[in-house]
Amino acid sequence: MEPKTYVVEHLDPELGEWSTLEYKAIARESYESGARFILSSVPEELELPDDLKSAEGLSVERTSVEVLYEGKKDKVCLLDPQAPKELSPTDGDMFDVFLFGGILGDDPPRDRTSELRKKGFEGRRLGPVQMTTDTAVRVTRLVVQDKNPLEGIPYVDYPEIKVNRHESVEMPFRYVQGDDKAPVMPTEMAELIKRDSEKGFGDLF
Ligand SMILES: C[S@@+](CC[C@H](N)C(=O)[O-])C[C@H]1O[C@@H](n2cnc3c(N)ncnc32)[C@H](O)[C@@H]1O
Repeated sequence: MEPKTYVVEHLDPELGEWSTLEYKAIARESYESGARFILSSVPEELELPDDLKSAEGLSVERTSVEVLYEGKKDKVCLLDPQAPKELSPTDGDMFDVFLFGGILGDDPPRDRTSELRKKGFEGRRLGPVQMTTDTAVRVTRLVVQDKNPLEGIPYVDYPEIKVNRHESVEMPFRYVQGDDKAPVMPTEMAELIKRDSEKGFGDLF
């Protein structure tokens, strides 16, 4: 099988610590599975942090996914929480490229994926619950590369992350469940959640 390409179209003018951790995890896991990872639409004036820039397997593009895949749109599948059809293992034979919104999750979801939907890419849903971008890429890989049906993947919904001895924060997302039964997320993420919870999250997830 041709190696798959995962494209995250960065839709924010800035790139914070949360997105950096998510993108580093996507780069590492894509590289380890033999897939490519393209971070597209990165503004010219946005300097990426060194540890992201140097991530093995990451290609940074300043242009948008439409330009990169001009004339090959039918090979690109947009992972879209509002798509009428769920992603299935056979989509791995139909599409070479899987496209995601580089957007932080929000609660309630604001449907910023619509910015990509209106460009006319064929869409697939990953179930009814909002995932973080790195989880969405992880689940897509498990389906299209490893041929797991979407409903056979173990998930953890809305996990509670302990931020101190007395308090925890509920994450409003679905995650893949790891072998240790914990939600799979970048290693430094729990630490960042604890730090940010002290400042108050605002609408920034
Ligand atoms: C954190 S989500 C953002 C969802 C969001 N609140 C919005 O405004 O669309 C980032 C990306 O992950 C993918 N994604 C997350 N959950 C998904 C789901 N249940 N089905 C399909 N794609 C999903 C989409 O590509 C989405 O743009």
